Amino acid sequence: MEVVLLPSADDAARMLADAIDALVRRRPDAVLGLATGSSPLLAYEELVDRHRRGSGPSYAAVRAFLLDEYVGLPAGHPQSYRATIERELTGHLDIDPRNVHAPDAGAEDLTDAGRRYDAAIAAAGGVDLQVLGIGTDGHLAFNEPGSSLASRTRLKTLTSRTREDNARFFGGTGDVPRHVMTQGLGTILEARHLVLVASGSGKATAIAAAVEGPLTASCPASVLQLHPHATVLVDEAAGSRL
Ligand code: GLP
Repeated sequence: MEVVLLPSADDAARMLADAIDALVRRRPDAVLGLATGSSPLLAYEELVDRHRRGSGPSYAAVRAFLLDEYVGLPAGHPQSYRATIERELTGHLDIDPRNVHAPDAGAEDLTDAGRRYDAAIAAAGGVDLQVLGIGTDGHLAFNEPGSSLASRTRLKTLTSRTREDNARFFGGTGDVPRHVMTQGLGTILEARHLVLVASGSGKATAIAAAVEGPLTASCPASVLQLHPHATVLVDEAAGSRL
């Protein structure tokens, strides 16, 4: 695992944007794995800005797969991850919206929807670069502590801590859905390059556990230790316990 300690969140964002930019230039039909949440936001802003200025690559042939999605939100809800990624990134690029995929959290059979999502990722040739954030409890996507390291895309129940962490995006904790569909840790590990970005002191304990702690389901992000090409971009505050 490569850990890059950067002076600020802006520097981490630029480095993530550079990695995505370089991949899409090299492979115009690259498969991107996208995370939502606040961690990658600055990088997404940078990519959108480059695209607007005409200095970024074309995303016309890029395919993208989201890590996760809330279950139980009405279609088009502004906090659904599908709506969020469109608002924050893909809606500002020349990517074909039909090539932006999210787990089908509205499906009647969510087990089957999980299988179909993994199959769609495989059919696209697998994810070239997977963007990741980390939860304060070390969760990856919505794989809460205790998730199997070999898990596939499936239904999960959120812990109260994650619902509290995400309450800022909703009216309050009570409005945060209890259930989600998330790529499994096994699914995520199949991406060819994992890039985790974290900033702020609230992530310092989780980053230290993921990078220097034991490989354990208690800290799902520690699975990065198993991956042959994982990069962790942290600002000084998030890296302060390393
Ligand atoms: C969320 C998302 C994750 C995200 C993490 C951290 O709940 N499901 O994909 O990486 O938790 O969130 P944030 O980046 O907002 O701190």
